Amino acid sequence: MANTILVGAQWGDEGKGKIIDVLTEQADVVVRTQGGNNAGHTVFIGKQKYVLHLVPSGILRKRKSCVIGNGVVIDPVGLVEEIGGLLKLGVKVDGNLFISETAHLVFPYHRELDAQREILKGKNRIGTTKRGIGPAYGDKAARTGLRMIDLIDPARFETLLRQKIRENNEILKAFGARPLSFKQVLAAYRAAGDRLKPFVANTVVLLHGAMRQQKDILFEGAQGTFLDIDHGTYPFVTSSNTTAGGACTGSGVPPHRMDRVVGVMKAYTTRVGEGPLPSESADLADMLHAMGREFGATTGRARRCGWFDAVATRQATMVNGIDDLAVTNLDGLDTLETIKVCVGYRVGTTRYDYVPNNIEALSKCQPVYVEFPGWRTPTDRARRWNEIPARARSYLRAIAELTGAKLTIASVGPAREQTIFL
Ligand code: GDP
Ligand code: IMO
Ligand code: MG
Repeated sequence: MANTILVGAQWGDEGKGKIIDVLTEQADVVVRTQGGNNAGHTVFIGKQKYVLHLVPSGILRKRKSCVIGNGVVIDPVGLVEEIGGLLKLGVKVDGNLFISETAHLVFPYHRELDAQREILKGKNRIGTTKRGIGPAYGDKAARTGLRMIDLIDPARFETLLRQKIRENNEILKAFGARPLSFKQVLAAYRAAGDRLKPFVANTVVLLHGAMRQQKDILFEGAQGTFLDIDHGTYPFVTSSNTTAGGACTGSGVPPHRMDRVVGVMKAYTTRVGEGPLPSESADLADMLHAMGREFGATTGRARRCGWFDAVATRQATMVNGIDDLAVTNLDGLDTLETIKVCVGYRVGTTRYDYVPNNIEALSKCQPVYVEFPGWRTPTDRARRWNEIPARARSYLRAIAELTGAKLTIASVGPAREQTIFL
């Protein structure tokens, strides 16, 4: 399999967790390189559902090493809870998980500031997950953040935390929010630090050691291309590089050691949170929600839904260098008579075949659609390419061609076996 970067090609929740789980069979190491517990990656093994937030999805398979890389922001208390939840379900988390020493920490003041800033923004809010992601990456960029290496050094941590709490309490007071108790935060984080210490490692050295032993590494992207801090629909984005480059900076594995980029996309489009979504369709959202689908894995919020947006996925191919495509949730379209695909945007007489950077222009974009006839046959039992109805095959071929990458995987359900390799 060699070293593979897996990215979301849309606005997140493309089904990365499911595809990661399928690809992990061939990998030795699975690495998270950006984001934090704003991510929610769903994997089904049999009837058991697992939702992973910080721990790489590879943890669910035996004899795989999992790494939380330097580019991730970690809420240590949340991570301890997540590990506890996995242990309760009988998943082994011992000797197979490694956490970067230089990964930055998320604190309660980051979460509180995230919430307060959203309140202040009012109707211009981003619709964040309120996990403190923006403020934590903000501290990292301002060079005022604390890292795992600080957390596991109790004396040093106490001094640094005291200073941070003092400073952030002033900011919280200015927002009219309740200041935090240094003692309480210290106690909770010291306990989490003690629990996580055995997992903390120099993950750059570890990953290069794995490469010297010819191990195959899978880089598990979080969020999606249009939530990227540089390439997304700014400011309606997350605070990390969710595109392929983030896998290198967030792990210490250089670009020339990457062999392939897999882009995961749904057969339609979803977005959770605010910001433009040119191909949004209330009818499609109603249909999918009525089927019990498209509710957020992290926050439970109903996801906004739209038709497949080939303008966006083509741009995703460009910025990520996507070689292979995994299309998920084909079965979500099974009942439709007609299926639309957005192939361009229009504002007045201006036509765009790329996603405009001007957020106001993007908000005004009207989608230009082409229509495909629906197949109106369940696809969830298909296990081979020729078991998918001909119209569904044509649809998949068309969206891959419009996206400009090779269709490699089609997914027709959440389970492992509902996966078709081409
Ligand atoms: P991620 O964040 O990209 O890992 O995606 P999420 O887990 O947040 O959301 C994807 C949802 O779609 C989850 O509930 C998955 O179980 C589900 N899923 C993934 N692939 C398929 C598929 O092909 N068909 C169906 N019906 N569900 C899928
Ligand atoms: P996975 O990895 C979908 C969205 C939020 C909000 C914006 C900023 O499961 O695909 P943040 O809390 O990061 O500051 O929120 O980004 N968002 C996601 N949307 N899937 C995710 O992760 C997301 N992580 C963040 O809804 O619009
Ligand atoms: Mg998700």
